[in-house]
Amino acid sequence: MKILFIGDIVGSIGRDAVSEYLPKLKAKYKPTITIMNGENAASGRGITEKIYKQFLELGASAVTLGNHSFDNRDIFEFIDEAKYLVRPANYPEDTTPGTGMVFVKSNQHEVAVINLQGRTFMADLDDPFRKIDELVAEAKKRTNIIFVDFHAETTSEKEAMGWYLDGRVSAVVGTHTHVQTSDNRILPEGTAYLTDTGMTGPYDAILGMEKEAVLRRFKTSLPTRFEVPKKGRAVLSACLITLNEDSGKASRIERILINEDNPFYS
Ligand SMILES: [Fe+2]
Repeated sequence: MKILFIGDIVGSIGRDAVSEYLPKLKAKYKPTITIMNGENAASGRGITEKIYKQFLELGASAVTLGNHSFDNRDIFEFIDEAKYLVRPANYPEDTTPGTGMVFVKSNQHEVAVINLQGRTFMADLDDPFRKIDELVAEAKKRTNIIFVDFHAETTSEKEAMGWYLDGRVSAVVGTHTHVQTSDNRILPEGTAYLTDTGMTGPYDAILGMEKEAVLRRFKTSLPTRFEVPKKGRAVLSACLITLNEDSGKASRIERILINEDNPFYS
């Protein structure tokens, strides 16, 4: 089985890049399922129902989120009905709508898709390490194929999660920092690991935001509103995980990066 995961899709440039390249990626890599992180899909902040549905139509089996999950108010209207939308599982259980784990069916097999958020330099959510123990135990009752999108700021917290889950899940793949790291590897007990998948969005920008505003903030220290560029070149960042569908163990994780400096070859 192959899982294609597309990193943080930012704004309309990111959505257009997915529309343009996903059919080509499917033709080249033949993924069994595709998962996308959509927490920045609506102008950099959250996701709308329309965009969520567009991702499903484009071929997403599940859409993961992160610290911007609830930034677009639209989400409160549809999250409870959105069966394949996954917000960080370690938000407070009793007050947070939506779910942190969904099961996706592919042929005879089920894939558990989990979204977790880190706590270092981020909001003080529940402990993701304790939460994942609970979720892995629950998922294992149904499947050995477990995919974890760990939405976190620091490399150390992400590496810690990778090692913590080695042999217990199929993949721990990072999102949030928007720049793809080159440390894709299979950990000794069979878990695919990548610190950050990188983002899919504006290429001539700073982490997907208009560079002028980010520079202004750095130079003046005054409050500045960041906007996502609407025009310009795109980058698409993704990874492809190959795994054994009975054991859930991964055998390969490849990075995918498409931009004008790294053109796509079919
Ligand atoms: Fe994020």
